[in-house]
Formats: sequence, structure tokens, C-alpha cells
Amino acid sequence: MSAPDAPPRPATRSGGRLVVLVSGAGSNLAALLAAHDRPGYPARVVGVVADRASAGGLELARRAGVPTAVVAPADFADRAAWDAGVAEAIAVFRPDLVVSAGFMRILGAAVLDRWPGRVVNTHPALLPSFPGAHAVRDALAFGAKVTGCTLHVVDAGVDTGPVIAQVAVAVEPGDDEAGLHERIKVAERALLVDWVARVVAGGMRVDGRVVTVG
Ligand code: GAR
Repeated sequence: MSAPDAPPRPATRSGGRLVVLVSGAGSNLAALLAAHDRPGYPARVVGVVADRASAGGLELARRAGVPTAVVAPADFADRAAWDAGVAEAIAVFRPDLVVSAGFMRILGAAVLDRWPGRVVNTHPALLPSFPGAHAVRDALAFGAKVTGCTLHVVDAGVDTGPVIAQVAVAVEPGDDEAGLHERIKVAERALLVDWVARVVAGGMRVDGRVVTVG
């Protein structure tokens, strides 16, 4: 008889409290806000945290009656203080799952250690291709014929965490960055709304690089 395999790490089953992190327009946030009013949708946005007061996502949240917080790096002494400030701003809302949706900063240990395996990020490329802040531009510059979007668990690297789900989007002749990004964002919003619900409803287990949901 062979030795039993090491037991898998226990599944993370989160409740439905979402805190969404944004830097920009917030169309992914808008999709989650629209979804959370649907009967049977298992998650609810209970707080929105932005790194700048001008983030459009803040106004979307306010209009939806969702409380917000701003953690601008300029208001903190250094990177470690900002990291701690982000963690505190998130913690106020008692999240089950933290969703980085267009948050254009790297999250530090103060956040990742406080909610291990419970911080996810949406990215506009098929990781590990084209990580970073200019994924759509980089895919076009590379001449990729297919790109897409990825929902992944956040780790300490830049867009390096285990993949939860991906959708491919074809690059069409004549695409520019804005047009391609808009098509990716259509796929991205659907992916995010769908998989956040699956994670919340069914739990998520991360074994090394392999993510199992449900
Ligand atoms: C989204 O496409 C998101 O994946 C991307 O910013 C956009 C935000 O759109 N994030 C990154 O590029 C992070 N590396 P939104 O503000 O309309 O949701």
C-alpha cells in the first residue's frame, strides 16, 4: 500500500461580504454592484477602497449606497504605513473576500497575511503572459493573436498568483489599445461576476498553483 498523499489544505469558504479595491473608472465594480442586487447572487459589495479620491469607482459605490474609503499613498509616511492603512481600511468592512478590480498598486503583506488566500485580482491578459500595468498595450506590441483576462489569487508577486479562471479574447486586425481593452472588459466583467459567486458559494482551495473552486 502506498503512503497516503499529504492532506490538501482546507478549503476557504467565504461568506458573501466583498470589499472591492479600485483605482479607476470601476466598470468591474459596477458589474459586481449590479449582480449583488440579483435574487440569489451569493455575494454583496459591502465596501469600496480606492487609492485616489478621483477614482470613478468611488462615485459608483456612493450611488449604490456602499461605503467607501480612500487610502492615498501621499497621506502615509512610507510604503509600510500605506500597506497597514490599506489593511485597516479593508478590515473596517469585515470582508470575506477582497476583490482587486482595477486597483493599480501592489498589495503588501499587511493585506495578504491578514486575508490569506482570500484576496483575488482581475487582470486584462492571459497570465502569465503580459503581467503589470500595461497588459493590453503589451499584448498588442507583442503581436499576440489571442489575449484575454484572468482572475487569480493574489500573492506577493506582480500578477503571479494561482489562476482561478480565464477567458480568451481574439485580437482583431486594426485593434488599438482602447478598443481591445473594451472587448476584454466585457469578458472580464462576466468572468468576475461568475467566479466571485462560485468562490463565495462553493469555497476555494489552493494547492500550490492549483485552485479548486466548489
Ligand atoms: C481592468 O481591465 C483591470 O483588469 C485592469 O484595469 C481595468 C480596470 O477597469 N487592471 C490592471 O490592469 C491591473 N494590472 P475598471 O476600472 O473599469 O474596472
